[in-house]
Amino acid sequence: NEGALWGGRFASGPADALAALSKSTHFDFRLARYDIAGSRAHARVLHRTGLLDEAELTGMLSALDQLEADVLSGAFTPAPSDEDVHGALERGLLARAGEDLGGKLRAGRSRNDQIATMGRMFLRDHARVVGAGVLGTIEALIIQAEAHPNAPMPGRTHLQHAQPVLLSHHLLAHAWALLRDLQRLVDWDRRAATSPYGSGALAGSSLGLDPQRVAEELGFSQAAWNSIDGTAARDVYAEFSWVSAMIGVDLSRISEEIIFWATKEAGFVTLDDAFSTGSSIMPQKKNPDVAELARGKSGRLIGDLTGLLATLKGLPLAYNRDLQEDKEPLFDAVDTLELLLPAVSGMIATLVFHTERMAELAPRGFALATDIAEWLVRQGVPFRVAHELSGEAVRVAEARDVELWDLTDAELSGISAQLTPAVREVLTTFGSLNSRSSRGGTAPSAVAEQLEELKLQLSPI
Ligand code: ARG
Repeated sequence: NEGALWGGRFASGPADALAALSKSTHFDFRLARYDIAGSRAHARVLHRTGLLDEAELTGMLSALDQLEADVLSGAFTPAPSDEDVHGALERGLLARAGEDLGGKLRAGRSRNDQIATMGRMFLRDHARVVGAGVLGTIEALIIQAEAHPNAPMPGRTHLQHAQPVLLSHHLLAHAWALLRDLQRLVDWDRRAATSPYGSGALAGSSLGLDPQRVAEELGFSQAAWNSIDGTAARDVYAEFSWVSAMIGVDLSRISEEIIFWATKEAGFVTLDDAFSTGSSIMPQKKNPDVAELARGKSGRLIGDLTGLLATLKGLPLAYNRDLQEDKEPLFDAVDTLELLLPAVSGMIATLVFHTERMAELAPRGFALATDIAEWLVRQGVPFRVAHELSGEAVRVAEARDVELWDLTDAELSGISAQLTPAVREVLTTFGSLNSRSSRGGTAPSAVAEQLEELKLQLSPI
């Protein structure tokens, strides 16, 4: 059974059905580079312990170099007889180093600690790519916010007009959410920086190997303190998957708004031609497919997470073969995000905002009613009363099908003597915006400070 890593105790080879079920090379061979890096580090600790002499180490490392070059060039690929990436690479190593030398490398390690380590290496590399994509999306939001520092838009709750806000304030709200996702990736990496290599099958190794040296060579900050945990834990994978799903959900929420903004009814944005699609039958169509795919793929990322958690639920310690199922959802999550993030950031960066239309709608739908109530409070009226009076003003305006600023002085004073014409100072969009100037508010001055703070928090990342 060429390419098998076990067989001695079996009288016959595996049934075809088992071999087919067991096989994982079609997805795990993408970890080959990491497995070879692990093999180099492992060869060095075997040498340090005296299990490989100088010439053997040199021979092993050069065979691994050749193997890596052949993997990268495509000259070496998994054979039908290979069960997984580890078996395939051992076959490749034996062919290059010779059976006697190549057969020494497996001492003191197991596929269980290997695969747990490879997964972490893969995710740590891709966390950096995904993080750069998230950063690019934050930057696109910041650039649009900076390009529109004083553009009002309708702020909504329940999707109903609520209070006017600045477009820049709204865009930066999405940027803060993505900043937290970025911070989560950075924080996750501290937990991912522990190497399971050296945990063996589950109990560690009797060969006096040094897991800490392997860990450092592979870019980890420490080796696992518990070999059972080292081989069995997948919480770090699940956490990465959760962060991926959260990034997907955050992109989906931005996307849902862009889809709405691009409707004829809203008319807030025009999508760039390079980031929209057409219809095969309706010649006029210009569709927000990037945003829709982002919204759709967030469901897929959530599926990756729930699938992984379901695989882990109920698994006893330590390694169980179920864990082979951990890789595809993770690969899918990074592939999905690495595809999605450049498209979403490009779509955001090229949006054209129709700021006149947004400004025109910003105060409408009685969005300044809270300003009337708060103006009354500043005149000494208790808020309970002020809320009622402002509500009456809305009722009168609605009955006449006009906006609050269209009410006559007589109508205002008819509601309450306290509603003097001076209230008109807050009955404008910028009267409302400018008054919300404390930290976190939507006044242009507060948004400028917010932007500085956001950049400050981004700078260490
Ligand atoms: N291919 C397996 C995985 O991806 C690793 C091999 C462990 N197999 C075993 N029989 N202990 O999880």
